[in-house]
Amino acid sequence: MTAHFIALYLLASSIGLCTSKMPQIKEIPTDLEAVDGRDASLICKTTGVPHPKITWTHNGKISLPKRFRVLNSGSLHISNLQLEDSGEYTCYAENEFGSTMRSFNFTVRRHTEIMNDLERLAVIAGTKATFHCKVTHDKNLALRVFWLHNRKSINFDEEPRFIKTSDHSLIITKTTKMDSGIYTCHAETSLDETAASGALIVQDVTEPSQLKNIPKEVIGYSKENWKKREYY
Ligand SMILES: *[C@@H]1O[C@H](CO)[C@@H](O)[C@H](O)[C@H]1NC(C)=O
Repeated sequence: MTAHFIALYLLASSIGLCTSKMPQIKEIPTDLEAVDGRDASLICKTTGVPHPKITWTHNGKISLPKRFRVLNSGSLHISNLQLEDSGEYTCYAENEFGSTMRSFNFTVRRHTEIMNDLERLAVIAGTKATFHCKVTHDKNLALRVFWLHNRKSINFDEEPRFIKTSDHSLIITKTTKMDSGIYTCHAETSLDETAASGALIVQDVTEPSQLKNIPKEVIGYSKENWKKREYY
């Protein structure tokens, strides 16, 4: 009985049934996109006994920049993505029983950015106020820009005094005191989003002295300040 078992075991292991397994790639990305400046992990999930050794190529090149690192999991980690990282990636899995590979395309898009600091304005009630929002984005992606007043989205259909121009500026045609507050320009594509904010104080003509006393904490948000504060 025991001898029988040992014989079967030896037979099985000699033809590799028990212990060895050719590598297989179970999962890789499809149609992957990301924006520049970010990090990305391109996954390559494999099986195989012993664990296959994973190598990667980019557009056929085996020598990759320092920003590229193969993780223990087999994933390829890329830090600080650059536009030139776009292209075809191939994951190779190999052990002594065989090898396999799979490829996919990865596209790095330009990130969305608001290029100007938003205005901080003090105007007399009834006059016009204009905020500018100069956005750059990847032209292959649809851009959506919307405005918020004190964190609430502005509905331009319901508020005819508010106009959004084709260059994403916000014009408040006849300001009232209620319009005072924080104004945020929010820009997004399918891959990323960003926001910047400015401030508006609307004064009645009858209280001109207050124009000189705009509280410091209400004005002067730059893009950087905005991210650190809690308004968004
Ligand atoms: C990647 O894109 C190129 C060019 O569009 C195409 O020829 C190639 O077949 C794609 N590769 C994969 C793995 O989809």
